[in-house]
Amino acid sequence: MSVPACLLVIFGASGDLTARKLVPALFDLHREGLLPAPFAVLGISRTPMTDEAFRDRLRTAAAEFGSSPFDPAAWDAFAPRLFYHPADVSAPGAFGPLSTRAADLCEKAGIPGNVLFYAAVAPKFYAPLVAAIGSAGLAEPSEAMPGYRRIIIEKPFGENLESARSLAREVTAVFREPQVYRIDHYLGKETVQNMLVFRFANGIFEPIWNRNYIEHVQITVAESIGVEGRGDYYEGTGAVRDMVQNHLLQLLAMVAMEPPVSLDADDIRDEKRKVLHAIEPIPPELLGRACVRGQYTAGMSGDKPVPGYRDEKKVAPDSRTETFAAFRFTIGNWRWGGVPFFLRTGKRMGRAISEIAIRFRPAPTLLFSDTPCGQMESNWLVINVSPDEGIYLRFVAKAPGPDVCVRPVEFSFNYRETFGARVPSPYSRLLLDAMHGDATLFPRMDSVEAAWSLLEPFLSRWKSDPGADLFSYEAGTDGPREAEMLFEGTRGGWRSI
Ligand SMILES: NC(=O)c1ccc[n+]([C@@H]2O[C@H](COP(=O)([O-])OP(=O)(O)OC[C@H]3O[C@@H](n4cnc5c(N)ncnc54)[C@H](OP(=O)(O)O)[C@@H]3O)[C@@H](O)[C@H]2O)c1
Repeated sequence: MSVPACLLVIFGASGDLTARKLVPALFDLHREGLLPAPFAVLGISRTPMTDEAFRDRLRTAAAEFGSSPFDPAAWDAFAPRLFYHPADVSAPGAFGPLSTRAADLCEKAGIPGNVLFYAAVAPKFYAPLVAAIGSAGLAEPSEAMPGYRRIIIEKPFGENLESARSLAREVTAVFREPQVYRIDHYLGKETVQNMLVFRFANGIFEPIWNRNYIEHVQITVAESIGVEGRGDYYEGTGAVRDMVQNHLLQLLAMVAMEPPVSLDADDIRDEKRKVLHAIEPIPPELLGRACVRGQYTAGMSGDKPVPGYRDEKKVAPDSRTETFAAFRFTIGNWRWGGVPFFLRTGKRMGRAISEIAIRFRPAPTLLFSDTPCGQMESNWLVINVSPDEGIYLRFVAKAPGPDVCVRPVEFSFNYRETFGARVPSPYSRLLLDAMHGDATLFPRMDSVEAAWSLLEPFLSRWKSDPGADLFSYEAGTDGPREAEMLFEGTRGGWRSI
């Protein structure tokens, strides 16, 4: 399906996200011949730069962060599609010249309208940016630039329920909900998209995908990096707002949702909202038993010593911001009643890995428990979201020999080995979807709200008692030992990272 011509206007064009993710993803799309023709990018930020300087800067970024070896000839064909306009989006009057430049570019590039905005600026700018786009008349098609208007908004969408609702009001005063694409790059990962196919296109999994067969579910998003010089951003955010509210709860929704009636964006998003809404709220007296937070102390990252969080740049020496969070939730519906869902995420953990691990109930009789060797293990179905995208099913088998020795073995599927191709960047997929007008993989406001509502009691608790549920863990480990407490009353514990 060809993509209609489009002007992509990136606010925050001199920033990290543009260099590290957006431009490498666009360059990949260019090389695969997937970008619309005609197409242009107009980058906007305050730093004074010419188009040429902007292209040079992004060439270096594409070479460093691209997903495959840099191809200079392909870059030379792509770079003329990049343009830059220095502007301060909070300055009154900035949008007049900007809209003239956009219209001019469309005319020169032969783009008959269609504008996709990308808010790659700090969250405090989202609302004023949207308001300024509205006041400049850029949110509506005009004679000079007809076609669609859409906006991609980066995470985080709000910092609690109230601010998310207030931001939503400000955004929808200018754009209608179907024009708003809240990006959650986890949903653009192949393995996450494959979840729908895996669950609903195979007859064998859905009958066992429920409380009768599944004992518990663990969702882990572990990072080995620290705050990478972004301490000021992270201090006001922390792991719960940065990762749990969006990525982890969206992954949970993909695992636990009911089959949608169609693959239509809204049918899928209806089911996701329903399941998030069905997560049982935690009563105030049990909040401390449903969540453990952590903060890393000095330790090792691989074989390199690394400082503790409080010694990172732009971090307060007495900071109470969590760099790790683990939760235990249950979903109060017929499919999942009583099945715990354990979620955990952290920085400076032993390894960078994202996985969804499903532990099945044991066989009814332990016929083999008295055999001379081997240990009975649970069956696990593990979806590796990254870095080794794939799925494996762990079960036990008899090892060859005269004795009945039971050993864990695996059926596995690996994306790279099976399909040969490199796994595309989630940003490529999501940018392309937004250009197509397909919002399936972008969280709708109702699920964003459901996620904030669920976390709100925890956030209020930590606001009044910043040290509550907060423990320390050494960098390079699996997080605070106290996180095991969440498994009280449940067989098993956290999988090792
Ligand atoms: N970096 C990532 O990997 C990542 C991942 C997920 C989400 N995000 C989200 O993406 C957004 C951008 O993150 P980032 O890491 O790219 O931040 P960043 O490196 O600090 O970039 C911020 C950008 O905003 C521009 N800017 C700041 N004030 C401006 C103003 N008044 N007018 C116009 N431009 C202005 C800055 O450029 P000038 O200083 O030149 O104006 C810069 O280009 C944030 O909301 C973040 O939460 C980032």
